[in-house]
Amino acid sequence: MEIKNCVAMITGGASGMGAATAKLLSTLGAQVALLDVNKDAVQKIADELNGCAIHCDVTSPESVEKAITETTNRLGAARIIVNCAGIVHGRRMINREGPMPLDEFRRVIEVNLIGTFNVMRLATASLSTLSTVNDTGERGVIINTASVAAFEGQIGQTAYSASKGGIVGMTLPAAREGAQFGIRVMTIAPGLVDTPMFAKISDEARAALAVSVPFPQRLAKPDEFAMLVRQIIENPMLNGSVIRLDGALRMQPK
Ligand SMILES: NC(=O)c1ccc[n+]([C@@H]2O[C@H](COP(=O)([O-])OP(=O)(O)OC[C@H]3O[C@@H](n4cnc5c(N)ncnc54)[C@H](O)[C@@H]3O)[C@@H](O)[C@H]2O)c1
Repeated sequence: MEIKNCVAMITGGASGMGAATAKLLSTLGAQVALLDVNKDAVQKIADELNGCAIHCDVTSPESVEKAITETTNRLGAARIIVNCAGIVHGRRMINREGPMPLDEFRRVIEVNLIGTFNVMRLATASLSTLSTVNDTGERGVIINTASVAAFEGQIGQTAYSASKGGIVGMTLPAAREGAQFGIRVMTIAPGLVDTPMFAKISDEARAALAVSVPFPQRLAKPDEFAMLVRQIIENPMLNGSVIRLDGALRMQPK
């Protein structure tokens, strides 16, 4: 699908990979709507890109419905949907304080998995009503963000890995369902990416993480995620798959 003059809706657009994706798509001629719970940060990025900032919580049906309507009213119907909203979580199932509170597990599933599904189901409903845009019969593309933790989660990542594994699991059935409407669904599973999610770790810890990546031996840049989003949008044969973006990293147990 051509990016130029398309409307792209990016969740988690206020930061990290979402913001980098919004910047690249905007440079390539898309109009961007950035959805995020962080009101001030999302406004700042949207202003830089002449885009549209929408305060939205991906876990809420009403909030996402409103965001899709607002995007359509302000920019036109979105045909590119990129799900980057997510939270990181690390805690053992049991530690000195006892078992992990169940609500903590629920929250990670709620934001990362249910939030992604919520956006995907409402975006699919909206996309299915649009006309096709090219000879292939495409109506739109949905790109989700999982993690390599979906495949080799470390100790302390039961909740995070479950949430990302769920995104991997729903990619193929969603693509199969979207096929009748000309909607593709893809998922990117990043390894270690240098975003504000890593802001709290020391330079030492960052360097230790970097050497665990075979090549290139460093954290990925958010722009490299955006490059893959671009390829997925432009290449019509990419559908129903999960692509790892990890420099051959395979996470160790801890
Ligand atoms: N950084 C990494 O190394 C890495 C690796 C693998 C996967 N990921 C995943 O990539 C995605 C983007 O991560 P990032 O590193 O750019 O993180 P980030 O923290 O920089 O950005 C995430 C954004 O999501 C927003 N957000 C959180 N909860 C939300 C909600 N309920 N509704 C709407 N917005 C919400 C945050 O406000 C933030 O702006 C996440 O899903 C993350 O799990 C990150």
